[in-house]
Amino acid sequence: MKTLIIVTHPSIETSRVNAAWLQELRKHSDITVHELYTAYPDGHIDVAKEQQLIEAHDRIIFQYPLYWYSTPTLLKKWMDSVLQYGWAYGPDGSKTAGKAFGAAISTYGSEASYQPTGANRYTLEEILRPIEATTHFIGGQYLPHFALSDVSNLTDERLAQSTTDYIRHIRTVEPLVAV
Ligand SMILES: Cc1cc2nc3c(=O)[nH]c(=O)nc-3n(C[C@H](O)[C@H](O)[C@H](O)COP(=O)(O)O)c2cc1C
Repeated sequence: MKTLIIVTHPSIETSRVNAAWLQELRKHSDITVHELYTAYPDGHIDVAKEQQLIEAHDRIIFQYPLYWYSTPTLLKKWMDSVLQYGWAYGPDGSKTAGKAFGAAISTYGSEASYQPTGANRYTLEEILRPIEATTHFIGGQYLPHFALSDVSNLTDERLAQSTTDYIRHIRTVEPLVAV
């Protein structure tokens, strides 16, 4: 099982959560870490290289801070350009089939705010539906997400615990069974 973490943070130098997760990921030589904004500071994505990277892994996790209930721009651009017809979907597009895809996100909003009665009105499961739907569309298996919320009230202890929990999540998470 080869795991690829695609980290997308436009200002990792000012990040607390994603930077801590990234620092921990780098200690695990069996996990491939790929930072999109570092690889493509000019925003021009090498599609063939990205497709090769996906083909070489079984499990892909998109790690990013939640931006306007969505992904940072470069990750959306990555999806738009890498998940091509004839490669990821369409008659001959089967390169992503059977691979597992999931998300690991940080949010300013608290867990309580990501509830139907909370300020953000929708759960993170609902907000991540585009990733889930995309996964199914390209023949993949969707992994339950990992999240750290309420980051403005984050103690060093909770950040350290989340980092440990994140690695465990990466190593143990199993695809959701479609109903
Ligand atoms: C442009 C922008 C949009 C954001 N949108 C959201 C959002 O929709 N929901 C939310 O909970 N937090 C939102 N945030 C807060 C970030 O998710 C938060 O700062 C980030 O997860 C912290 O992680 P870091 O320490 O790795 O930067 C937004 C931040 C920025 C800069």
